[in-house]
Amino acid sequence: MSQILHSSSVKKLITKGLKAECKSLRENNIFPQLKVILVGSDPASLIYTANKKKYCEKIGAICEIVALDEKISEADFRKTIDQINKDELVHGCIIQLPLPKHLSHLDVGHLVVKEKDVDGFNPENLYALMRNGNDSKDFISCTPKGILTLMQESQIAVAGKHVVIVGRSMIVGKPLAMLLTNHNATVTLAHSQTENLKTLTKSCDILVSAIGKANFIDETYISANKNQVIIDVGMNTDAQGQLCGDVHYERVVNLVSAITPVPGGVGPMTIVSLAQNLLQASKNKLSL
Ligand code: GUN
Repeated sequence: MSQILHSSSVKKLITKGLKAECKSLRENNIFPQLKVILVGSDPASLIYTANKKKYCEKIGAICEIVALDEKISEADFRKTIDQINKDELVHGCIIQLPLPKHLSHLDVGHLVVKEKDVDGFNPENLYALMRNGNDSKDFISCTPKGILTLMQESQIAVAGKHVVIVGRSMIVGKPLAMLLTNHNATVTLAHSQTENLKTLTKSCDILVSAIGKANFIDETYISANKNQVIIDVGMNTDAQGQLCGDVHYERVVNLVSAITPVPGGVGPMTIVSLAQNLLQASKNKLSL
């Protein structure tokens, strides 16, 4: 029987701790506050940002979605972020991606100051990940951090394992490769130009798919030995308009040792990581 890596129990456990931590911060007059900058009305981003706000409020933090017009000028967009960077009451700020076309050339990692960069996109936070300083004050990108937490809490060892990550984005693939390398995995970062992808995916211990293609990974990508762990980062809609992952769940579930479902697998862990980073940012401010 395959192990289904639902995030609900892990999330519940971590949420309890975050609530207690937030309460203790509030008792010390620190009111953790997150600003989520949302430009336009991309339907997926509207749902993601609403979920982030809901979870922050659940743990007792403040979260405001700063909704900006789709056509906001670059100057006004930058001004809004600068004001948040300077606001003493704000501990964390994220710019929800993707941005509209006329802003997509901007390097978001440079816009939010590193102390509030709870997305982990700032060059200093990325360097900390590269350096593997193991300083818990730094921010690790939320999806990679959530994937590692889910595996750790599910007793899935990564040290010494061969992990194949399909997808080389700045948000998931690249930082996850670094994070798992720091945890002593042997990582292959594969992508759309990789030759013999199926040979790679069939030979690894842990397969992470972060490509954004509905049901792309089917049984032909999986080893016959039924010993692989599959982590599905995809949040896609299939031909019937249903939410689905990158992995064809029904065709793969009985061929592996463990698999994350979509929804209910990696997605909720991303939000948990964001809240962890927000409370870390709030604590970091105390020690400045
Ligand atoms: N869009 C999809 N995932 C993310 C994320 O982790 N952070 C931000 N800022 N935008 C996203």
